[in-house]
Amino acid sequence: MAKLYDRADLYDLLENEQRYQIAKRHWERVLRGRRVQTLLDVSVGSGNLTLPLAELGVELHGSDLSEAMLERCREKAGKREIPIDLRLSDFRRLDEAFDGGAVFDCVASTGNSLPYVTNAEVPDVLAQMDRLVRPGGYLYLDLRNWDRILETKQRFYLYNPTFLDNGMRMNLVQVWDRHGDGSMTFNLLYTFERENRIVQKEIFEEHYFPIKKQLLLEELERLDYEEIELMCLPAFLDGVKPENAEWYCMLAHKQEART
Ligand SMILES: C[S@@+](CC[C@H](N)C(=O)[O-])C[C@H]1O[C@@H](n2cnc3c(N)ncnc32)[C@H](O)[C@@H]1O
Repeated sequence: MAKLYDRADLYDLLENEQRYQIAKRHWERVLRGRRVQTLLDVSVGSGNLTLPLAELGVELHGSDLSEAMLERCREKAGKREIPIDLRLSDFRRLDEAFDGGAVFDCVASTGNSLPYVTNAEVPDVLAQMDRLVRPGGYLYLDLRNWDRILETKQRFYLYNPTFLDNGMRMNLVQVWDRHGDGSMTFNLLYTFERENRIVQKEIFEEHYFPIKKQLLLEELERLDYEEIELMCLPAFLDGVKPENAEWYCMLAHKQEART
């Protein structure tokens, strides 16, 4: 079966200028009052959640496991004239990709990417991210609200139809299968219609290991992070608590170096 991230063009069909501006407003709220001039996103993908940061004056660095997603990110950054340093790297091997003592004001993993690795691997990924955060800097994660997904046993996730430039209508439905070991397969069913007839179908499977919020909080505390702020994604949503939101993010502040 084809891999979703080899089809970066298709992955990006949900994206548009409105979502770009939402991501920008999200970061404005997340970074308000915080000194973040450099940011590394270790699951930058095609840059949907990361590129809008450039408009806030942040110097961007990104890494990802998928060359196709990085290539797409490079193209999009080029069109917007955004400088970005991109590297091919598994976030379980960040120590190898960034071995020159590089440090950033913020190291992020965006787009619900951490659950691609098992819960047992998460502490080491966070420790490697932490080594790239300057003292007094930030570690940022955003994810689907897995606690809620596990609690409600949600199975279907429907997107509003998207109307494409070529006149086609794209429908995307996700159907989530649960496995005995606690992992889940997200079946992504894309259909493309012209004049109310389906003319193209694409199916992808993504395998996830649900992560509970508590695991992340415990690991960040173990790494000596303080002031861990939980926010909805997008963070400017009023009246929704992060624990009830479909997506949330956490921003953790690393202690200043002790003198
Ligand atoms: C849902 S996409 C999110 C991309 C982007 N952050 C966004 O919000 O559009 C998940 C990304 O995680 C990347 N990914 C999955 N496993 C990874 C790993 N072990 N190391 C680095 N990147 C990984 C995929 O290649 C993909 O680009």
